[in-house]
Amino acid sequence: MIKQAIIPLAGLGTRLLPLTSVFAKELLPINGKPGIEYILEECIDAGVKEIIFIISKKKMMIKKYFYSDKFYKNVIKKKKDPKIIEEYNKILKYKKMIKFVYQNKPKGTGDAVLKTKKFIKDKYFLMLLPDDLIMKHNCSKSMISAHKKHKSSVMASMKVEKKSVSRWGIYNLSKKVSKNNFIIKEVVEKPTIKNAPSNKAVIGRYILPKTIFDKLLNQKPGKGGEIHITDAIQSLINENEKFIAHNFTGKYLDCGTMNGFIKSNIEINKL
Ligand code: G1P
Repeated sequence: MIKQAIIPLAGLGTRLLPLTSVFAKELLPINGKPGIEYILEECIDAGVKEIIFIISKKKMMIKKYFYSDKFYKNVIKKKKDPKIIEEYNKILKYKKMIKFVYQNKPKGTGDAVLKTKKFIKDKYFLMLLPDDLIMKHNCSKSMISAHKKHKSSVMASMKVEKKSVSRWGIYNLSKKVSKNNFIIKEVVEKPTIKNAPSNKAVIGRYILPKTIFDKLLNQKPGKGGEIHITDAIQSLINENEKFIAHNFTGKYLDCGTMNGFIKSNIEINKL
């Protein structure tokens, strides 16, 4: 069983400036609800019991959002609005499930993962990147099924336009092992069009083995001077750890760029 999930939230959000100069992008509402709540719903519905948020001092607003139960209580005392009571109960439920760890320097997703090392109990855990919303079909749930079936690590996969490969981690896949599931031979972080092994991209859902922490401890900075989770995954693949790319069936919404964020707000209404 996958019982723990981690969510890196310490990123600067430069692709969403100027909004992110004063606001945490993960709290920006998408159809009236902060993006992070869609992510929480997905992992809780997939059976996760504990969620670790990796934040920074600059992103304390996120902690405040989930620790606002006293504020709600006071409002409820005065106003017995059922909608506010419902929101209060939801926030309280989330608060009980979330732990916070800190990554105060934006050194990359790999470095963010490393901050959770002492909290991870089981052999495998889930990671969700909050820029990537997947609607209509629970991607984490189907990845957990693939993990159980193939006893392996799993990452979400989607075809992207060839011209945009340098925005993503890109796969080189070998054989199909079951419906929508493929063995990964290689994964490269943000390659040039010329060097991209395919146009199949890593989307922000990962089932990772605990052994990734040893790789991250010794990992040198890669592209752009950051410590990438992709590079640590490649080191594990080199040592024959089985990684599966799962072609998810849900609707992908990219909330990590300004264009994507605007489009997501429109698209979500059509679902
Ligand atoms: C990260 C990963 C990249 C992956 C992407 C999915 O990039 O490093 O491999 O394809 O998320 O959204 P970032 O969005 O942090 O630039």
